[in-house]
Amino acid sequence: MAIAVSPAQASIKSDLAYQKCINVDCGLTYGTDEALTSCNKCGDLLDIVYNWDRIKVPNRMSDFEQMWTRRHEPLRFSGVWRFHELLQFAPAERVITVGEGQTLLQQANSVARYVGIRQGQLYLQYEGMNPSGSFKDNGMSAAFTHANMVGAKRAACASTGNTSASLAMYCSVTQLMKAVIFIGSGKISYGKLSQALEYGALTVQISGDFDDAMARVKEVSKELGIYLVNSINPFRLEGQKSIMYRVLESLRWEVPDWIVVPGGNLGNSSSFGKAFTELKELGLIDRIPRLAVINAAGADTLDVVYNQRNLRWNRGRPRMEIACLYYDEMDKAKHKADTIASAIEINRPVNLKKCLRALDVCDGVVRKVSDQEILDAKAQVGAGGIGCEPASAASVAGAKLLRQQGVIGMDDRVVCILTGHQLKDPTATVAYHTTDQDKFNEVLGSRGVTRASYANRAIAVPNDMEAIVKAIQLYS
Ligand code: F0G
Repeated sequence: MAIAVSPAQASIKSDLAYQKCINVDCGLTYGTDEALTSCNKCGDLLDIVYNWDRIKVPNRMSDFEQMWTRRHEPLRFSGVWRFHELLQFAPAERVITVGEGQTLLQQANSVARYVGIRQGQLYLQYEGMNPSGSFKDNGMSAAFTHANMVGAKRAACASTGNTSASLAMYCSVTQLMKAVIFIGSGKISYGKLSQALEYGALTVQISGDFDDAMARVKEVSKELGIYLVNSINPFRLEGQKSIMYRVLESLRWEVPDWIVVPGGNLGNSSSFGKAFTELKELGLIDRIPRLAVINAAGADTLDVVYNQRNLRWNRGRPRMEIACLYYDEMDKAKHKADTIASAIEINRPVNLKKCLRALDVCDGVVRKVSDQEILDAKAQVGAGGIGCEPASAASVAGAKLLRQQGVIGMDDRVVCILTGHQLKDPTATVAYHTTDQDKFNEVLGSRGVTRASYANRAIAVPNDMEAIVKAIQLYS
């Protein structure tokens, strides 16, 4: 696959973009030549802001279709950098791509039936088709590009598995950096762990969960001067905006009614909100879709603070002490995130504040769904198409819930984001479909999953021609 690795001469400080603290009472700015994950003054999150008046943006979104004719160029082959005009923090010659973002928006009628939406109105955005098997490659391509621009030789992340797989892949394909990944013990699915190990990442397994690993990796990367690629890195989110560009592109630039996305560290939801805000400001879309962020019930911080404690963006002054108080309560109760959707097993989402902004801009809603609902939805997604990992199916389960509640209408056009590939977590899938009750109980029963309503069970037959023929005739 094509990789554009830059000549070193180009300046790394862009005059087209800068970093800005999202705290409205601070708003300090930094150049794109700085590697930061928070504001030096107030510690808040950073945004990438563009000087749009200096950027030649196409007049219409449909103008981006012309980029397809230039697919021989690595920049335009990439499903992220095809939209380079909307991501102008790096000059073209400094962009690093491994061909990420060749993903698919599929109309999914059997899933629409399951969700309760009119035929033809439900779409699944298969981000599992990315080179490392999850949506992370969209953002990693952007963060990795920036890391390389600032001369990083090591890049680190804490991960529930997909960020680490993605980082490890960019490091191994380009050989530009060493990946250092932090994972919680026993908290990562084998599919994802196997990627990091095989791609050669330095894998640090710490006793604790993702939230512990996240806290540590921030400290360690600061101490050792390692470039951090978690989604607190604002460049990551720039790449993830392209998921929305591709959704719009697949819908022939018609804005859907709903985007439904699983919520973990809340990077995706934050970046989607930013994407739509920018497109609207640029006059490239005329309305913004509604956003539904779906937590797993076992990792429901956003749902708690948003729905029960009324934490809102509040014109840039959210009462973040509501979240802090909730974190303290969780610590006191020794409450840890726990869900079969291990990718979103996160209780302290680093992008909470940005997500509140996205919910505000997109007239958003937040819901939580149980592991049972997640696995049933996942089975339906798999039965209807390419499949996904458990966390991804939270979007479909969430859409079903919102439909039942009458929040999503039967005729609404809904796009569910399937964030990761089905093969990322075979343990959960096999346990769901198994005939072995002990296996089912061991993996799923402990999480309150009591039934596999859509299981496709293997049939056991003796090694005997007649018995096999009989069984096939009986079941087919
Ligand atoms: N879906 C999948 C498959 C993920 O891997 C993640 C996050 C999410 C959803 C949540 O996305 O953080 O943008 O809200 N995985 C991270 C990781 C945390 O380390 O791979 P978010």
